[in-house]
Amino acid sequence: MKKRTVLGALVLLGVWVGTGAWAQDSFKVGLILPMTGPFASTGKQIEAAARLYMAQNGTTVVGKKVELIVKDDTAAPDVTKRLAQELVVNEKVQVLAGFGLTPLALSTAPIATQSKTPLVVMAAATSSITQASPYIIRTSFTLPQAAVAMGDWAPRNGIKKVVSLVSDYGPGIDAEKFFKDRFLFNGGQVLETLRVPMRNPDFAPFLQKVRDLKPDALYVFVPSGAGTALMKQFVERGLDKSGIRLIGTGDVTDDDILNGMGDVALGVVTSHHYSASHDSPINKKFVDAFQKANGGLRPNFMAVGGYDGMRVIYEALRATKGQGGGDALLAAMKGQIFESPRGPMFIDAQTRDVVHNIYIRKVERVNGQLFNNEFESLKDVKDPGKSR
Ligand code: PHB
Repeated sequence: MKKRTVLGALVLLGVWVGTGAWAQDSFKVGLILPMTGPFASTGKQIEAAARLYMAQNGTTVVGKKVELIVKDDTAAPDVTKRLAQELVVNEKVQVLAGFGLTPLALSTAPIATQSKTPLVVMAAATSSITQASPYIIRTSFTLPQAAVAMGDWAPRNGIKKVVSLVSDYGPGIDAEKFFKDRFLFNGGQVLETLRVPMRNPDFAPFLQKVRDLKPDALYVFVPSGAGTALMKQFVERGLDKSGIRLIGTGDVTDDDILNGMGDVALGVVTSHHYSASHDSPINKKFVDAFQKANGGLRPNFMAVGGYDGMRVIYEALRATKGQGGGDALLAAMKGQIFESPRGPMFIDAQTRDVVHNIYIRKVERVNGQLFNNEFESLKDVKDPGKSR
């Protein structure tokens, strides 16, 4: 080859590599979230947290440029699945992530299996999700983890008779079942189990029923974002003045909306894996940075699922030295152990599910703002749904 031709080829190669056209040079993560519609707060929180993680940790890892491709599935399962397929086939993403609701994760599981692409669930929380594909890893939580903790706490604290009220789909049914089993085991009584539609729920008739049944407490699960409507109707039906206490999983007093709920939320006790007021240096740093980057928005448990999910992805990329390959990445995600803003957590290599502390928290006002303040903790809680 002539000298000039070699030089020309090298210049061309330089341009090619320099513009990032060399596919091997980038590492693409497809982040599929509900960015519009009733569950848009979940998408907003997770995207903001993923971007914060990248801003804090750099976008070049072992020589690869990490690219986040965000897609809005509008919380429609068929859209999630189609977007995942397009991301894998056309964009050649190495990891799929996000998944704001259980049906969205379940519809996409076959794509992960067929394409051998790790799928990191950052939000959805029905226990069975990780069993839908061997390529699923979870960094959110499971409802049984939270529900069992409350089934132990409530009867030890003067709550003997309960009515449960849950959203009528996977996570609500998990919450109802695992709370009830443990509560009955501890000598409690469940007067009624009520299920409300997941989309556009009207809580009023159900709350009227709760009033008539006069339990010591109402136990609830509603997905993140729906707590405001429930609380409003709780007050409108006069339940706040009825002496019926409100308990549940921490989804109902979600940090994103808690401050807007007002006095009705004071004293509500919930069990959950994350509170923005979790007392640790790592969490303080996370909350401060998140608020600074997002106009004062308080991060909720969805944000933490997204932040930790990016950590799991980054470390898998690092451990595999940028070689890629779904199986190698998946292997490097299993067994990761680290301190999250939620506290210590790890990814159980057997179940691919998250193991972390569950805290009992009470809503209190601190410096004029409402927080879920943690006052008891259960250490290293595995998903109780997996042992059945
Ligand atoms: C779910 O659909 O799995 C889900 C959504 C929101 C939550 C919890 C679980 O807050």
